Amino acid sequence: MIRHFASLSDLGPEGLMKALDAADRFSVGRGAPAAQRPLAGKSVALLFEKASTRTRISLEVAVAELGGHPVVVTAQGSQMGRGEPIRDTARVLSRMVHAITLRTFGEERLREMMQYSSVPVLNALTDESHPMQLLADLMTARRVRGALGGLKFAWLGDGNNMANSWIEAAGLLGLELVLACPEGYDPSARELLRAKERGARVSVVRQPASALEGADVVSTDVFASMGQEAEQQRRLEAFRGFMLSRELLARASKDVVVLHCLPAHRGEEIEEEVLEGPRSFVWDEAEARLHTAKAALVWAMGLDG
Ligand code: CP
Ligand code: NVA
Repeated sequence: MIRHFASLSDLGPEGLMKALDAADRFSVGRGAPAAQRPLAGKSVALLFEKASTRTRISLEVAVAELGGHPVVVTAQGSQMGRGEPIRDTARVLSRMVHAITLRTFGEERLREMMQYSSVPVLNALTDESHPMQLLADLMTARRVRGALGGLKFAWLGDGNNMANSWIEAAGLLGLELVLACPEGYDPSARELLRAKERGARVSVVRQPASALEGADVVSTDVFASMGQEAEQQRRLEAFRGFMLSRELLARASKDVVVLHCLPAHRGEEIEEEVLEGPRSFVWDEAEARLHTAKAALVWAMGLDG
């Protein structure tokens, strides 16, 4: 059975916590000795149909530090950008590499890659989800606050891929999560229902202030994601009042952890003073991408012992 990492649910609640523990261990003593290089002799194809800084570099460095060989492939620099079907790419790569990571548009492209690949496929962001980022966000929140249970998590802004993965995390771990999204920009109804069925306290509100009230961890993201550039102006208007400002943050717990997956648009979804302020852990969160990328890779490749 191939271990694909399409979503956090593939890990399950226990696997998710184990991955966070593994990431904590990877964060100690970078550049492990040769004996701890589980990817020695293995290659991983890192496919990008959208731009990336953190995901690309964290995965590339993670594979290298685990002793493997990363092969970065962009759509423009490969036949993918000229329309070669995902199913053909999947079968060719499966004969050459030991795992594939894919950043793409619709989730159906990731599903097609998984269906035709005979090696593990990891989701490096789709229009619908971003599970790798959630591993880093949970790792960061847990490090700062000591534990995840009993905290109030808030999401401010677009009900996008990040919001959907937060809902999935809340469902798996039984977290309290309040999302403030303008009407018309709600997260996935399916994801919300699934989290509720799993027993999590997840709700969507229209007032940023009520989501922020007493929040322990607050996350936000750009108002227009990759692929939505043409909607930028319309979205700026729809999201008026949804910027994570000092004023809004004053409603949160004094120990609040501010997260942003980055890249950030200062003055749009987050105020400069909040991003650069004392409760911002965004740089730790970015670093956590490296440690959690290692955890995700060793899990998917069955090397997690
Ligand atoms: N947070 C994140 O996924 O960043 P990149 O788009 O730079 O990979
Ligand atoms: N929601 C953003 C996340 C970027 C890491 C996007 O999809 O562009």
